Amino acid sequence: MSPSSTTGSAVDGIKGKVVAITGASSGIGEATARLLAERGAAVVLGARRTERLDALAREIRDAGGRSAVRATDVTRAADLEALVALAVEEFGRLDVLVGNAGISRIGPVADGDLAGWSAMIDVNVRGVLHGIAAALPVFRRQGRGHLVTTVSTSGLKIVPTQAVYAGTKNAVRTLLEGLRQESTDGVLRTTSISPGFVRTELVGSIEDPAVRAEAEQRMATIGIAPEAVARAIAFAIEQPDNVEIGDLTIRPTVQN
Ligand SMILES: NC(=O)c1ccc[n+]([C@@H]2O[C@H](COP(=O)([O-])OP(=O)(O)OC[C@H]3O[C@@H](n4cnc5c(N)ncnc54)[C@H](OP(=O)(O)O)[C@@H]3O)[C@@H](O)[C@H]2O)c1
Repeated sequence: MSPSSTTGSAVDGIKGKVVAITGASSGIGEATARLLAERGAAVVLGARRTERLDALAREIRDAGGRSAVRATDVTRAADLEALVALAVEEFGRLDVLVGNAGISRIGPVADGDLAGWSAMIDVNVRGVLHGIAAALPVFRRQGRGHLVTTVSTSGLKIVPTQAVYAGTKNAVRTLLEGLRQESTDGVLRTTSISPGFVRTELVGSIEDPAVRAEAEQRMATIGIAPEAVARAIAFAIEQPDNVEIGDLTIRPTVQN
């Protein structure tokens, strides 16, 4: 018996799924969009830098894939509602929301970077909550849906300069586990992906020059490609509906 006949789902695997991705303009989100589109998903791309999203969407369409773009600032709940609505308008439904947008204004707590802390809470925590609020009613109406978020190994091994960043990531980890326990009726799957050092533009949001230089150096020397995380996200998505990948950690083999 095929997985779809045991679960009764409309679509298993990746082909044909509709996936909205926040933070799709660079790094992990961009690589995820490209991979999922190659594997037959319709991808709905959200971020603030729309010129990058437009270029990626064009590239996907030129290769025979399906894509749509919506300017999205995840700190605004209405933007997430519009991103989810676009998926439904363009492609008929939303199967997966990848809440991936994030920033890392890291630095010692003693620096008292109130603005940086607020920015991380707004993007990394409120941004994910806005996505959940927008997607859940659609998932419930459809009778199926999958929330994937990009958290971090920063929340697994707590190190100096990353206390607040790790706190935001662990808030999301906690949130998804709570939501999972509230949603065991088979409608919703939740997945937290914890990457270690990945070569992306993330260090660009670090303001402290010394902390940024160290992070850049680590990323350049040991960082893995964003495509590695995209494959982990694809693995979670491609499982049959009755299989939930709850947590996946993916880090450089040499990361301590
Ligand atoms: N790279 C790593 O080593 C690493 C490790 C663990 C976890 N992560 C997590 O992985 C996720 C992706 O980061 P990345 O490494 O791929 O870094 P990145 O290349 O800097 O990508 C971050 C993405 O988030 C988007 N973003 C930032 N603020 C936003 C906002 N207010 N509204 C909407 N989008 C926003 C950016 O798009 P715009 O600027 O165009 O809006 C960009 O597309 C983040 O959650 C990060 O914390 C990364």
